[in-house]
Amino acid sequence: MIGENIMIKNSTHKIHLFKEQSTISCSEDNTILEATLAANINHTHACGGQGKCSTCRISVMNGIENCNPRNSAELRIADKLSFPDEIRLSCQTKITGDISIRRMVSDKFDMDVIAEQFSKDSKVAFGSQQKLTIVFTDIVNYTSFAEKFPPYDIVHVLNRYYQLMNSCIQNNNGFISDVAGDGILAIFGINNKKTNSVLDGIRAIKEMNESLINFNNYLEENFNTKFGIRAGIHFGDVIAGPFDTGEMKKMAVIGDNVNYASRIESANKEFNTKMLLSEEAFQEIKSLYPKYNAFETKLKGKTGKYNLYEII
Ligand code: FES
Repeated sequence: MIGENIMIKNSTHKIHLFKEQSTISCSEDNTILEATLAANINHTHACGGQGKCSTCRISVMNGIENCNPRNSAELRIADKLSFPDEIRLSCQTKITGDISIRRMVSDKFDMDVIAEQFSKDSKVAFGSQQKLTIVFTDIVNYTSFAEKFPPYDIVHVLNRYYQLMNSCIQNNNGFISDVAGDGILAIFGINNKKTNSVLDGIRAIKEMNESLINFNNYLEENFNTKFGIRAGIHFGDVIAGPFDTGEMKKMAVIGDNVNYASRIESANKEFNTKMLLSEEAFQEIKSLYPKYNAFETKLKGKTGKYNLYEII
């Protein structure tokens, strides 16, 4: 267990602390946590520095190359919580040069968030930047349906639709990150390098359209209408992580590339298409789809022109 009376030997390297705006010394024999505690910094370490709680976690802002590789205790937690490279357990990390760090656990609220992460078996329990396939869909004919029928019917039909579409997305290695009205934001490729995530997205949309045939029989019988699906697909970097506001928990994705995919989906109306891919997504699958239509257009909220592709 780590106590309060820690002697720092051979203080050869500097640790700059972002929050405290101060610099302390650390020898190669001591862990970062030992150095911060020796400097009387109130650094949370719930398990006493045994590499079991992760409350001593830090973000290494500069000098990650000066941190020793993760030991087995740290690897176990880093793997469980999908820590990116720069997030380290200060109780397990020693340094061979100067670094800058930010302590990540400041108060009880941070502690509660960590406790929640430990209670789950999530593969992405912690935010990370990943190259993923982002798919936006909306429903053709939804607006006219929603104008004609009462809220109960709208919610009931949308729930049936979401359930059906969720199966198609999950069958193809994806998950629904969000829904808004008739729109679905689905993500493919998270922590999965085994399959081509753009191809997974395309296959999911194909399956969604196939499922819609039966669903449309139900809609025609009960509401005298039919739905169609428009989709936009993009492949790019996003930040993915679990967002937890108590009652509402979800795996969310953030970043400009999410908006980009949404704009691509909207462009279907301009070209009278059902599914459009960005240049980046198209490059991932073009060897499999020799026949395609290419369009050049401006996208709302973005500068310049963009190439979009409809595969045939
Ligand atoms: S203090 Fe618990 S893991 Fe570092």
